[in-house]
Amino acid sequence: MKALILAGGFGTRLRPISCTRPKLLFPIANKPILDLTLRRLAESGVTEVILAVSFMADALERAFGKSKHRIRLHYSRDSLPDSSSAALGTGGAIKQAENLLRTEECFFALNGDILSEANYLKILQHHREKGRMATIALQRVEDPSRYGVVKLSKEGLIEEFVEKPTKDAPSNLVNAGIYVFNSEIFEYIQPGKACSIEREVFPKISKERKLLGHEISSLWIDVGKPVDYIKANRIWIARQVEASRFPLKGTDVEKNASIQQPVCIDENVGIGKNSEIGPNVSIGRGCLIGADVRIQGSIIFPSVEIRDQTTITGTIIGEGVKIGEKVTIGKGCLIGDRVTIRDGVRLVNNVKVCPYREVSSNASRGQCVI
Ligand code: GDD
Ligand code: MG
Repeated sequence: MKALILAGGFGTRLRPISCTRPKLLFPIANKPILDLTLRRLAESGVTEVILAVSFMADALERAFGKSKHRIRLHYSRDSLPDSSSAALGTGGAIKQAENLLRTEECFFALNGDILSEANYLKILQHHREKGRMATIALQRVEDPSRYGVVKLSKEGLIEEFVEKPTKDAPSNLVNAGIYVFNSEIFEYIQPGKACSIEREVFPKISKERKLLGHEISSLWIDVGKPVDYIKANRIWIARQVEASRFPLKGTDVEKNASIQQPVCIDENVGIGKNSEIGPNVSIGRGCLIGADVRIQGSIIFPSVEIRDQTTITGTIIGEGVKIGEKVTIGKGCLIGDRVTIRDGVRLVNNVKVCPYREVSSNASRGQCVI
């Protein structure tokens, strides 16, 4: 069985951290989201995956190479006839991979930015039993407005599909970004053109009664927004606690530092005395944390240095960031890769700092340091 993973979005809502890395390389419990998805596909018997890449394609190819978890990886790059590369949209990117998939009777297609424990094989079984052209996994959510929303008939056919409805969503059952398609889907997308499968194809095939829905109720989070990314990380590290018990190779936690689980700490991390780490914190490989530091509910990417008496809460800190002494970083901040934050600075309430900047004065409430 083959699968296609849509991996070429810009990750706009995760800027500025996504300025320097594609969304699928964002770590969850210190592993790229893509790694987690590939592992689950491998467990479901998938042996070949096509990564539909565009934005920062090289970074993805460098990180994952030709195979992972015994899955053979192919890279299909968005491109338009009149320009070397351009985003094709979800439908265009699927069409671009037609040569690699058209021989399959059916294949999985996934949005790559979803942390999910959905049972792919059950979705496939449903698809085969009901015998239509496409099946979409559906998740029930409280606020459907930022998803694709469906109206489902009693026999399980999607009668209406509306992408991000501006008013009156037909239900609270939404597209979970997990699909099974028969190769006939390619006939519905024009080659060499940008196309949104959600806006252009699903509404059409639902009218033709070719689109099935299959409700799932397992863990499911789209990590595209900072709050949801932090939530996904929190849930996932809670499941990893056993796996992340000390000692880890090269990791050195001072005896009187306190680790409040769930916490996920990678290799070669140093944590100084009296520091309190957790709950709900992940710390990437090679981070150095001083004494009397407090970190809660945050994601710290690899190779970050944090000096003494600094406090970090509800924040995402990019790779290679250097943070001085007595710094406070609070709720909803996004600190880009390789930023330097000087001693005593306070950043609170959704401050964003672009990569490589140096911050020497306080900022608050949605300020953006560019
Ligand atoms: N190759 C390629 N090219 N990939 C793309 C492109 C593109 O032009 N645009 C988006 N993608 C990838 C993204 O990287 C992501 O993995 C996936 O397609 C979905 O794009 P998002 O930008 O994350 O869409 P969304 O979250 O607003 O909405 C989608 O996901 C929801 C579920 O979380 C839609 O499919 C909704 O209908 C759905 O409910
Ligand atoms: Mg998304």
